Amino acid sequence: MNIVTFESTEELNEAGAGIVISLLQTKPDAVLGLATGGTPVGVYEHLVKAYRKGRLSFRKATSFNLDEYVGLPQEHPESYYSYMKQHLFDHVDLPVHQAHIPDGNAENPEEECRRYEAKLAEAKQIDLQILGLGHNGHIGFNEPDHTLVSGTHVVELKEETRKANARFFDSMDEVPTHAITMGVGMILKAKTILLIVRGEDKADVVHRALTGPIRTELPASLLQTHPNLVVMLDQAAAKHFQ
Ligand code: F6R
Repeated sequence: MNIVTFESTEELNEAGAGIVISLLQTKPDAVLGLATGGTPVGVYEHLVKAYRKGRLSFRKATSFNLDEYVGLPQEHPESYYSYMKQHLFDHVDLPVHQAHIPDGNAENPEEECRRYEAKLAEAKQIDLQILGLGHNGHIGFNEPDHTLVSGTHVVELKEETRKANARFFDSMDEVPTHAITMGVGMILKAKTILLIVRGEDKADVVHRALTGPIRTELPASLLQTHPNLVVMLDQAAAKHFQ
């Protein structure tokens, strides 16, 4: 595991984007695993800037998003579909049919999980999986539990996750109760994992996840088993590593 701490958010975002840029420069048809939420917004901003300067192309790349809310209309501003369009897809040359996000409005969500899993299987392996970290240690929407699911599945979001994400909605009632998420199996199968964590409010959980016992009640602790994990922290999140 390679843990890097950055003085500023700007430097962190630039370095995070740098990993994606180098990958696409050396392997234009790379498979990217993408995250949403507050954490990677700045990384996507840097990627868009670099794309506009002609430093990279997504034309041959494929992407898979980690998760999507169940039952939120695709055009809702907080759907991860809208998020990806807003922060990345509308601004770069990634062909629409090469960008995959679970369909949270599928008539049969279980069937949608199987469809997504089949698409992932076709791609074989994600080259670079970008991850944020939930306050309760979730990765994707793999919430703490006695057991974890390997494949894509429907998950009931924990109350604390809904509360954390309520900041993006007008009220707590609007926050979806369920999501479709990639399972820990595919996440851990990625060639490289880039975990980005910012803020003092995550200092404790990231330290426990990376230095404490590996347990399904702290899903991110499974990342310790990954042979090629890069962790990017800002000063506040790195508090307990110093
Ligand atoms: C998002 C995702 C989640 C977030 C996590 C942190 O696709 O899978 O695991 O990465 O909830 O969210 P933020 O970055 O908003 O603190």
